[in-house]
Amino acid sequence: MLHSLITGGAGFIGSHLCERLLKDGHSVTAIDDFSTGSRRNVAHLAGNPNFELIEGTVLDEALMEKAIARADRVFHLASAVGVRLIMEQPVKTIETIFNGSDVVLRHCATHRKRVVITSTSEVYGKGVSIPFREEDDTLSGATSKHRWAYACAKALDEFLALAHFKESQLPVAIVRLFNTVGPRQTGQYGMVVPRFVASAIRDQPIVVYGDGLQSRCFAHVLDVVEGLARVLEHDACFGKVINLGTDQEISINDLAAQIIAITGSRSRIEHVPYEAVYGDGFEDMLRRVPSLERANGLFGYAPVRDLRDIIQDVAASLRAQI
Ligand SMILES: NC(=O)c1ccc[n+]([C@@H]2O[C@H](COP(=O)([O-])OP(=O)(O)OC[C@H]3O[C@@H](n4cnc5c(N)ncnc54)[C@H](O)[C@@H]3O)[C@@H](O)[C@H]2O)c1
Repeated sequence: MLHSLITGGAGFIGSHLCERLLKDGHSVTAIDDFSTGSRRNVAHLAGNPNFELIEGTVLDEALMEKAIARADRVFHLASAVGVRLIMEQPVKTIETIFNGSDVVLRHCATHRKRVVITSTSEVYGKGVSIPFREEDDTLSGATSKHRWAYACAKALDEFLALAHFKESQLPVAIVRLFNTVGPRQTGQYGMVVPRFVASAIRDQPIVVYGDGLQSRCFAHVLDVVEGLARVLEHDACFGKVINLGTDQEISINDLAAQIIAITGSRSRIEHVPYEAVYGDGFEDMLRRVPSLERANGLFGYAPVRDLRDIIQDVAASLRAQI
């Protein structure tokens, strides 16, 4: 039986990955400090003899050394996440992302463990060449704008992972996740889909930041987890950056309208300027579309769920909590 270690395993994506790997017959250890994740996300796995949940931080060298030594493969998802959190806690953001990945990569290198690092589409920054390809140049904003700290810290993680691959052939893959949504994602940190759906099912106004013409591609978490689960099975993925998400694009205004239609809501759409939410100097990107060619070529990745599935699943899970 393969033993998988998932950092951030009590988070949104991490908890779905725990489920998926247990179904595949792995034993799973999840390490989480519950900063944005919660025990509730994995409560249904508590009775499973192949599942273990450890409360702790990836910054704890001794804990990580021991956990990585015991694992066959490591999925590193622990991170500061969410635009609001990143704007409000920039020091914690940088330290958690970079120092956490450093600890994970160093111990994986010592123990020669397969590891996947989760990076983000934010790394493409203000890139305008659509779709985004992994070898494209990246264009970040000024360092005085905290928003870019998340992207730059994740980019540094990528450099470090690729450096380990180059110097010691560490079997490491890097996935750049695009917007991933589904049940258990919380709207608390500024995530758009759970925030909109929560408003829609209560018939409250749906608040769009900016003019709503910015667009995104929303992938169902189960499709993303499918990709994450497969990436370490293929040696050709090591030493590579791989986009993961979906390439179906929708504007935020259309997203709000679809959520209203699918949930049968009486909500109205309201617009507020970014500055009112995140303060002066906030920058957003107009479009973010991944090329999925590499993921498809390496391990046959092809998302199968659409936006309707996502909205229905998120609405069902939020209604169950009311
Ligand atoms: N959801 C998305 O759309 C998206 C997009 C791009 C990248 N990602 C990346 O995917 C990964 C998972 O994100 P998510 O959406 O599930 O968010 P999440 O906030 O639900 O998951 C992150 C988890 O890491 C935990 N964590 C934070 N700091 C920790 C620490 N020091 N030690 C141990 N655990 C810690 C949190 O408690 C949480 O459970 C992150 O690396 C994130 O950057 C997510």
